[in-house]
Amino acid sequence: MVQEEPEIGMGKKNHELIPSARRLISSLRDMGYDFPAAVADIVDNSIEAGASRIAIDVRTDADDSWVRICDDGIGMKPAQVREALRYGATREYDERKALGKFGLGLKTASMSQCQHLLVASRSNPKQQQISAYAWDLAHILETDSWEILEIGAHEHADLLREPLKTHTGTVVLWRRLDRMLGFKHPYGGMIKKRLATMCVELEEHLAMVFHRYLAGEGGRRRLRITVNGKSLRAWDPFVRGEKATASVPPIVLHYDHDGVKGIVTIEPYVLPHQNEFSTPAAHAAAAGSLRWNRQQGFYIYRADRMVQSGGWSNLRTLDEHTKLARVAVRFDPRLDEAFRINVAKMRVQIPRQLREQMEQAIAPVIKMAQAAYRRSQSTAAPPATEGGKQSVVHPAEKQRDSETIRVRPKTLADLKVVRSSTLHHMWTIEELLFELERVATKEERLVVRAVLERLAAIEKPTEKQVRDEHLPARRGNGLERPLRGLLKHA
Ligand SMILES: Nc1ncnc2c1ncn2[C@@H]1O[C@H](COP(=O)(O)OP(=O)(O)OP(=O)(O)O)[C@@H](O)[C@H]1O
Ligand SMILES: [Mg+2]
Repeated sequence: MVQEEPEIGMGKKNHELIPSARRLISSLRDMGYDFPAAVADIVDNSIEAGASRIAIDVRTDADDSWVRICDDGIGMKPAQVREALRYGATREYDERKALGKFGLGLKTASMSQCQHLLVASRSNPKQQQISAYAWDLAHILETDSWEILEIGAHEHADLLREPLKTHTGTVVLWRRLDRMLGFKHPYGGMIKKRLATMCVELEEHLAMVFHRYLAGEGGRRRLRITVNGKSLRAWDPFVRGEKATASVPPIVLHYDHDGVKGIVTIEPYVLPHQNEFSTPAAHAAAAGSLRWNRQQGFYIYRADRMVQSGGWSNLRTLDEHTKLARVAVRFDPRLDEAFRINVAKMRVQIPRQLREQMEQAIAPVIKMAQAAYRRSQSTAAPPATEGGKQSVVHPAEKQRDSETIRVRPKTLADLKVVRSSTLHHMWTIEELLFELERVATKEERLVVRAVLERLAAIEKPTEKQVRDEHLPARRGNGLERPLRGLLKHA
């Protein structure tokens, strides 16, 4: 007689192992969010709560700096706020259009940027009652327990109360912004500038990621998002408002694998080349924060919210000749597993089963983009030279790529700019600095700023120093004033 193998674990005592709060919450701070992606995850929640207005404010005040995200959604009752703050919060998700998925975003996104996350909510339109709770990293590290702090009514600062005075909604407040400030002693102008730069990046990111919501596409009412009081305008990667944008009819792919079924829609576009844009400003804006070359490729949307922008997901390489091709790829949350969406909602993978079909689907648009590129090259004016000196074409006027620098001036004095084929113009330092800032990518901008600041710090000696120390009358580099002006406005 064959003896049956006993099932593993049967008949034995099981042991519950509760993770260490101190270790896990600290580790979960590093899930790969950057500041804009973290805020976007909070905005997802507000949209799901039916918000029509979302106000994001960033206040710089050394150690007391904060970020606040307020919405006018349906809000939460006290028990719901507590559940919302639970790592792995449970709730039912609408498979077709839910933006949430993991029950983690509110916590992981927030704690990736700050040490103190406070959520206050009002769910009763008739009563101003607010419930508020907080995760506090210092408390977790001290107690090693999964304990949130209740914030009593008397502790509700105006910061929480004010936004919920007239309607239901939720306020998410981040304090002790260790990751955002990045300095042990976050004082002085550098911090202000750092946060100001981060806010610009935030605006760009949200305007892109939620552009369909901001524009009221898909039969929704328009969503209003403000950053420090400024209303965001949708950034449409396909510039569908431009007459010369070409599109290929959408292609619908049916995904059916291992019992998972769903539809993936592909909408290819070829953007106009520089001379075909309605205005130079429209062309410059369409370049996007990563500029033309790196903004080509797939724009992948999950439930109409962008989760990937640009790049060909290893189906092709980035290529100057195809930089005008941008392709919208849309899937609904039923295909989350297939697309391997990550918690930060910043990355997906094209399912293997779809790769070949997608390659075929984009083939025509690639050809169109290459043809458009050739057209643009044949109509582009050759780089101008004058009096034997090198010159560059003004980027805003000639609209060439920031990535393709044709001529490099040897010195600032050599820098002549052609605004048109007939009108010659000498760039001022201010113009040059402005253009540097404008064409630099996100990463480059920080470097450019750091260099500018160093330049600005080179002081012109005082008259007394010149007299006493026999210094040359002008040791400054002549850039201090315009640089200071620029940095003040940056
Ligand atoms: N602004 C808000 N208004 C109303 N309810 C909210 C708000 N923010 C969060 N919640 C509630 O808290 C829950 C937990 O949010 P959290 O972002 O942690 O997870 P999720 O949205 O369910 O999934 P994901 O991890 O994918 O974001 C949400 O499911 C929602 O019920
Ligand atoms: Mg969420």
